Amino acid sequence: MKTITNKEKYRVLEKSDLQSLKDMNEEIKKSKFRQKFHIQPITGLLNDPNGFCFFDDEWHIFYQWFPFGAMHGAKNWYHMTSDDLVSWKNKGLALKPDTVFDNRGVYSGSAIIYDNKLNLIYTGNHKDERDIRHPYQCVAVLEDNKKFVKKDEPIINMSQDYTEHQRDPKIMYVDNKYYIILGVQDKNLKGRALIYVSDDIYNNWKLLGELKVKGYEDFGYMWECPDIIKIEDKYVLIFSPQGLQANGYKYNNIHQNGYIIGEMNFETLEFIPESEFEELDGGFDFYASQSANQNIYENTAVLIAWMGLPDSSYTTDDENWSGCLTLPRELSIKNGKLVQKPARNLKILRDDVITSHISKDYLQKIETPLEIKLDNINSKNLEINIFSDKNNSSNSGFKISFDNKKCEFTIDRGSLSNKINTNQGSTRTIKLNVLDKLDIFIDNSSIEIFINDGEYTMTSRVFPTDEECMLYIKAEDNIKLEMCRLKELMNEEFII
Ligand code: FRU
Repeated sequence: MKTITNKEKYRVLEKSDLQSLKDMNEEIKKSKFRQKFHIQPITGLLNDPNGFCFFDDEWHIFYQWFPFGAMHGAKNWYHMTSDDLVSWKNKGLALKPDTVFDNRGVYSGSAIIYDNKLNLIYTGNHKDERDIRHPYQCVAVLEDNKKFVKKDEPIINMSQDYTEHQRDPKIMYVDNKYYIILGVQDKNLKGRALIYVSDDIYNNWKLLGELKVKGYEDFGYMWECPDIIKIEDKYVLIFSPQGLQANGYKYNNIHQNGYIIGEMNFETLEFIPESEFEELDGGFDFYASQSANQNIYENTAVLIAWMGLPDSSYTTDDENWSGCLTLPRELSIKNGKLVQKPARNLKILRDDVITSHISKDYLQKIETPLEIKLDNINSKNLEINIFSDKNNSSNSGFKISFDNKKCEFTIDRGSLSNKINTNQGSTRTIKLNVLDKLDIFIDNSSIEIFINDGEYTMTSRVFPTDEECMLYIKAEDNIKLEMCRLKELMNEEFII
């Protein structure tokens, strides 16, 4: 990650910047790492998904955006829409850091449909002349389906009982009331979430208190991007705790994003865990996920995350862009665990079937974007090298392996030429009782693996060179293999 001066960091996008950003975008579009079916920034840095919702017959999503380079500076919200959750249109800048309340960034938040209008609830990251932070929770309304207009005053001021870390409001509508869950840090430097309530999203927000999650009183120093969703008759608390110590297979990323299934009582503010905290994804790059409000699918929720991490660097930083979002996932609960399947509409992406057969070995040149489905693995040993080198040496590429004695499923990106975040380790392993199926989505610079129909997922950025272009699959026994070319549906129109 590059370092920048405060002046560069807190720059506000003006009309006079458009030409230079357009030029930057023209250069970026030439990058071989540009994704073909993932949301990515037109320029600069993308981090969290924000304001994910279904409104006016369309899906809406926004991303945290720093336009001027691959750096974390004063963030904007960039808006995109989709009919199907698969092909997305660039709509342009929605919110920029141009008021006193958000002078150092329009930070993450969520959306709600209220009074038939799309409303965005976000954190104004205010810093004073002494560089001391005073976060505010604020609202902006989409007027005439054209322009997001910020309300003059914040809806929630900083609570003096917590540190300056108070952000990422997720708004929910439950039993005729609006609730906000907010990520905070208490004065003992422990991560917490606060719950606010109101009858009217613009006024009278009242702090009800801390969310009480028994057993999680000492669980990281900050909880970012908290979210509560209901799936069937269960509640799921999702959050991104910072500061957990790596422990065996667990918590090996610099920060985590996970969930607890349980019961939520909005009167007592108790969330009663019925599962342990589980990471949502076992790969290298997954953070700050958000579920969509006003879901159109019954009994499921759709979740999307930043395919990246804070305090990390990526190969494209030198090309003035960084970050992308994950594929949308449909959530359900099975045997007390969250199941995450690729959103059903992703089938639209499928183009020609390149191959479909049963065998033990498979070798082919890779042409991205691509989906590989393996079935009937029967928990047999398996090795896959994606983006292996031209000689297809077994020690090259992004390696996936299943060791059926140890029941270990491992991914390893340490043999790729472009190394990223090696200080965070280059392998990740999860324990699997059974390995039956894999569904792998490969874009120009990412690999998303769905294991056993969404029982586990592993998501990673990778930046293969031209020489790293082969795919090799070797199984202990016959497996069913299907490979599909995917359509290049990502729209690269330059719109601000
Ligand atoms: C998570 C996060 C949020 C914050 C935003 C700023 O990645 O740190 O807590 O609102 O990013 O871009």
